[in-house]
Amino acid sequence: MSTLPHPEAFVRWFRQSAPYVHAFRGRTFVIGIGGEVSAEHARLASFVHDLNLLAALGIRLVLVHGARPQIEAELRAKGQRSRYARGLRITDAASLAAVKHAAGAVRVEIEALLSQGLPNSPMAGARIRVASGNYITARPIGVVQGVDYQFTGEVRKVDGAAIARHLEAGAVVLVPHVGYSPTGEVFNLSWEDVAESVATALKADKLLFFTDRLPADRKGAPLHELTARAVEMLLKSDNQLPHAARVLKCALRALAGGVGRVHLIQRRADGGTLLELFTHSGVGTMITADPLEVLRPARIEDVGGMLALIEPLEADGTLVKRGRERLEHEIGNFHVIEHDGVILGCAALYPFGTEKSAELACLAVAPEYRDAGYGERLLQACEASARTQKIRRLFALTTRAAHWFLAQGFREAAVSALPERRQSLYNWRRGSKVFLKRI
Ligand SMILES: CC(C)(COP(=O)(O)OP(=O)(O)OC[C@H]1O[C@@H](n2cnc3c(N)ncnc32)[C@H](O)[C@@H]1OP(=O)(O)O)[C@@H](O)C(=O)NCCC(=O)NCCS
Repeated sequence: MSTLPHPEAFVRWFRQSAPYVHAFRGRTFVIGIGGEVSAEHARLASFVHDLNLLAALGIRLVLVHGARPQIEAELRAKGQRSRYARGLRITDAASLAAVKHAAGAVRVEIEALLSQGLPNSPMAGARIRVASGNYITARPIGVVQGVDYQFTGEVRKVDGAAIARHLEAGAVVLVPHVGYSPTGEVFNLSWEDVAESVATALKADKLLFFTDRLPADRKGAPLHELTARAVEMLLKSDNQLPHAARVLKCALRALAGGVGRVHLIQRRADGGTLLELFTHSGVGTMITADPLEVLRPARIEDVGGMLALIEPLEADGTLVKRGRERLEHEIGNFHVIEHDGVILGCAALYPFGTEKSAELACLAVAPEYRDAGYGERLLQACEASARTQKIRRLFALTTRAAHWFLAQGFREAAVSALPERRQSLYNWRRGSKVFLKRI
């Protein structure tokens, strides 16, 4: 007997993650974490367990880390103060020593955790090789508005080829927040900038940032999806905290530089990386260059997603059975709403040419996305397509959605109001109601 509390839920979840496993294999993800994550051993350990899982799934991983709290702690222990300007540390010679110690200590800590392999632990059987090195060439920020940032630098170049070679060989690449200059000096960099530059150099598929808080709307509710355009507007609205604004700017530059997607994940959420990557709705904020959702004519490769949507409705009698072959054959009649690769809704238009009429059929929206206007948008797309075909009358047959059609401007009609050819196909046993709309 199973000892799992909800074995069905586990099996369902595991099966649902299969598309992500396929989609992510061989992809490059750059993950940026601040020193706050590594400051808490338990949190870092569970994060590393998640990394191990990603590596086992064949994802090419680059981990960029910072060490701000560790540097602060070391300076405090020595009785020295941290100095900041414009949100950036001014790294003097004393701070630089702390930067080197902290960066080294964090690196060792992460490498140790990635080297675990004890039986009966999530790391059992893991043989992760970690590569770290001088991938980042840095230059000093210099003097800005009269402030000399000394050993605080910015990224000048990323040796993407060297990182890619290690990834190719199956290693996880660890990049610290320090860079070296051709003059042999060490510079303290912001981990956010390093993560952005590495992701851009590698044209990574994803860049993940661990942040304190997610961007939120006016009411404080987290925004789970943003386009680059929406991020620009958020930054203009100027109510973001300085760190959030910094990360959002990095996200915009990375997307403009060819990175596929940027995800912000709350660093306190246990398992946040897995939830964000392996569930459709996610828990973080996904930022994309273009909108994720499109309403478009259906294509043959949508048939699988359309079947998943309509088969349960066919099984309970809401929709008439179609089957894969018929869907493939009639794909040109369909519109779909796609969201990030998942088909959320579909509708078909079947013109009856001689009578300037068309049937709206197979209208369906996935249950978890109903009442959000998708049904109405699909209807509008079908109406627009009908108008271009000079169709004047739209009709629909339904057993369960009568009031939806009434609310959309249809009126109930007799079966005799249908085009003749459709009347002869009318299924009296099914007893669908007929609705008509002039367009
Ligand atoms: C009918 C259907 C496509 C509507 O999609 P949707 O995206 O939820 O619809 P919208 O968001 O545009 O409209 C939502 C409104 O319609 C109402 N509505 C949704 N389904 C309804 C139904 N079956 N009967 C009556 N009203 C319904 C909602 O209550 C909501 O009204 P409100 O805004 O006043 O609260 C969807 O419910 C569905 O897929 N149903 C199963 C398939 C089906 O019956 N198809 C029609 C036969 S072709």
